[in-house]
Amino acid sequence: MKVLRRSSKAAIWSEAYRRSALSIGFVPTLGGLHEGHLSLVRQARLECDRVAVSIYLNPSQFNSDEDLESYPCDLDADIESCRAEGVDLVLLGQQEDFFPENFQSWVLVEDLARELCGAGRPGHFRGVCTVVTQLFHVIRPHRAYFGLKDFQQAKIVKKLTEELLFDVEICLMPTIRSQDGLALSSRNDRLTETQRAAAPALHEALVEAGNLISSGETSAKAVKEFLLSRLAGVAGCELEYVEVLSAATLGEFPGQVLNTSGEGVLVALAIIFEEVRLIDNIQVQDAGVSDQVESGSEGGS
Ligand code: PAJ
Repeated sequence: MKVLRRSSKAAIWSEAYRRSALSIGFVPTLGGLHEGHLSLVRQARLECDRVAVSIYLNPSQFNSDEDLESYPCDLDADIESCRAEGVDLVLLGQQEDFFPENFQSWVLVEDLARELCGAGRPGHFRGVCTVVTQLFHVIRPHRAYFGLKDFQQAKIVKKLTEELLFDVEICLMPTIRSQDGLALSSRNDRLTETQRAAAPALHEALVEAGNLISSGETSAKAVKEFLLSRLAGVAGCELEYVEVLSAATLGEFPGQVLNTSGEGVLVALAIIFEEVRLIDNIQVQDAGVSDQVESGSEGGS
């Protein structure tokens, strides 16, 4: 496994495999790798000849220095995890390659980035879209893997690759959860014991809302009110948003009347336990509620 720091070297690595007609799978990350990230790596390993992972704690997508500084980071452990999964290249992103002084060339996706996490984190998706664009230019993957835990991010990245004519297939993977339902996140380790014990209630509330929709509730307002009342009982958490939207457009359904056909309904939330921000979502389609408990383990960060 190669571990490279310079993006120019990574570009040479990828060019060699492209020339030999070998397929490249790519998993971009911020580091703090856990089973959620590794599920993407395993899928890439199954589907591609070579697998590249980037680890770059991209400052341009963080809104607060505190969140950035407290983001868990254990590079040695991350590199070991990649090695154990048979990764071929780890790119350790460097600030001077991606956001040198006087950087000005931002990539924006407009409407999809406005609501949900975009509303509370101005500039967040601008940072994500820009670094993903840069990473795609460096690695030039055939397939890139993203998790549906960050549903809005996944949608935005898909849109950007389609509209900016990237020759890459975006592969979306289900959310990996702890056995009690909490979506794995690098931030979970920062929860206190009491907060960690309360956190599975978020997923429980989402699943109950999903079941409500599956059993025929069509009022977005009613589902939102149900969720708000369920979440009001979760001790110590402050709500950033709860939304019940079209999973296709991330906008409201006409007349707020839910429709589970096609991509169906997205039920999404963001909450803050003191300074730890957690997001989660489920998608409800005609076939039922997806993204329920997966076989995740508590391990990792
Ligand atoms: P990061 O939060 O490290 O996540 C990297 C990838 O892992 C994302 O596609 C995310 O959706 C996925 N992921 C995280 N937790 C997951 C879980 N529990 N189950 C399944 N997949 C999960 O998302 C980012 O980094 C950054 O914004 C990035 C795309 C790397 C750009 O900087």
